[in-house]
Amino acid sequence: MRPKARKTWLLLHVISSVGWLGVTAGMLVLALAAFDEPRLYQAMALLGDLVVLPLALAALATGVVLSLGTRWGLVKHRWVLVKFVLTVVAVVATAFALRSGLHDAADGVVGTAGRDVLVASCVSLVLYTVNTALSVFKPWGRTRWG
Ligand code: HEM
Repeated sequence: MRPKARKTWLLLHVISSVGWLGVTAGMLVLALAAFDEPRLYQAMALLGDLVVLPLALAALATGVVLSLGTRWGLVKHRWVLVKFVLTVVAVVATAFALRSGLHDAADGVVGTAGRDVLVASCVSLVLYTVNTALSVFKPWGRTRWG
């Protein structure tokens, strides 16, 4: 990949992935507030569909493009492989479990949704922070395929 193209993809990757981390922090605050104000689940369901999911898909897609388009490769370095696996798990969990839980809660089927969304937001926040640290420190060297 030419330097200018790499920088452009990197810019898109940082905006989407760190944006995903930021909006997850917002979801955590809303999940806490929703215990007293269940109507907040409607805002959270909207954020889940229109902000969290697009950012999650963009972070994954731009990460894969950057990996394949640079010397890092998708499976050549441990830090990239770990980020890839963690992100795929997070995207699947976001697309299915988190969003369906939020839509149920927004429709008034609250049940354990408050606790579930709170736990999901905490786990996600830790995970995306780990991914950010892995990106900056790039630890653990090469895999057997590198
Ligand atoms: C929550 C998910 C993610 C977060 C928060 C994240 C965060 C970041 C950040 C902040 C950087 C910039 C590091 C720097 O320039 O020093 C970066 C770079 C990078 N990320 Fe991610 N990332 C995520 C997901 C992924 C995924 C899924 C992949 C691959 C499948 C990936 C592959 C890469 C690669 C290869 C670079 C280095 C690009 C380069 O320097 O050419 N990332 N990531």
